[in-house]
Amino acid sequence: MDATKLRRAIARTPLAPVAAFPKRLARVARHDAKVLRVSARWLVTSREHHNYTYELTKLSRNHLAWFVSVVCDRPVTQVREWLGEIESDQVLRQHIERTTAGAARRGLADRQVRYARRIGWYAIVRATRPTHIVETGVDKGLGTCVLAAALLRNAQEGHPGRVTSLDINPEAGYLARSEPWSDVVDLVIGDSIASIGALDRPVDLFLHDSDHSRAHEKREFDAIEPKLAPGAILLTDNVTSTNVLAEHAERTGRRFLAYRESPANHWYPGDGIGVAW
Ligand SMILES: C[S@@+](CC[C@H](N)C(=O)[O-])C[C@H]1O[C@@H](n2cnc3c(N)ncnc32)[C@H](O)[C@@H]1O
Repeated sequence: MDATKLRRAIARTPLAPVAAFPKRLARVARHDAKVLRVSARWLVTSREHHNYTYELTKLSRNHLAWFVSVVCDRPVTQVREWLGEIESDQVLRQHIERTTAGAARRGLADRQVRYARRIGWYAIVRATRPTHIVETGVDKGLGTCVLAAALLRNAQEGHPGRVTSLDINPEAGYLARSEPWSDVVDLVIGDSIASIGALDRPVDLFLHDSDHSRAHEKREFDAIEPKLAPGAILLTDNVTSTNVLAEHAERTGRRFLAYRESPANHWYPGDGIGVAW
């Protein structure tokens, strides 16, 4: 009996799991060794302890372009140009590098500028040209800068807008306190639910990225609903953890889609963008 016939014969016997064990062990060991290698390198080279930054894999970036294209009904070639626009904005990159290097918490931040899925937020703002964005959860202000950069480009093309960025931490947003980005940013310190309640202008684009508990995310979407302009777009950065925005979309008669990113060369499995529109 040749080897193939023997393998097939064993596969039909109670010995099959035992015979397959070495192959299964090798597969899982190869996978785990890769994760361990990437994790060990990250522990030595990165300073980040939360809100990790990384590039997307080429495939994940391409899927993000298609995601934005479908949601915003714009040609994917145009979306790719917008992704390239933020990635090649050297003025913003140098500002983030310099400010990070001089920040009080520089020991907990990487100097290398990596936007991950935030390039998708940028493309959505370029495609939809909102007059008023609200972002909950600012941290250092990386996402705020990306949103502000898109608004500044829109303004150059005759479509000005502003972003109201909400965070409970008074130290949040240090990257977004410099001109020209700060020209279009209103940083509000306080609990996001109270800050949303105090909004006095209609909101065209809302992004949840604050307290990622299910209860808080739901409270934010409930609170923002009466503040929305007709046709407003809702985004969540919590889509890999909860179904809150999908449920909100179903309740309010909107469509919903989710994109899951894949980080390149990072142990972190990545997050995503949920959108209701
Ligand atoms: C994931 S970070 C935000 C990341 C940011 N959007 C970015 O692009 O890098 C979460 C932020 O939410 C803030 N936060 C947590 N609970 C909050 C609340 N109840 N109201 C407002 N901000 C809150 C935290 O202080 C933290 O800065």
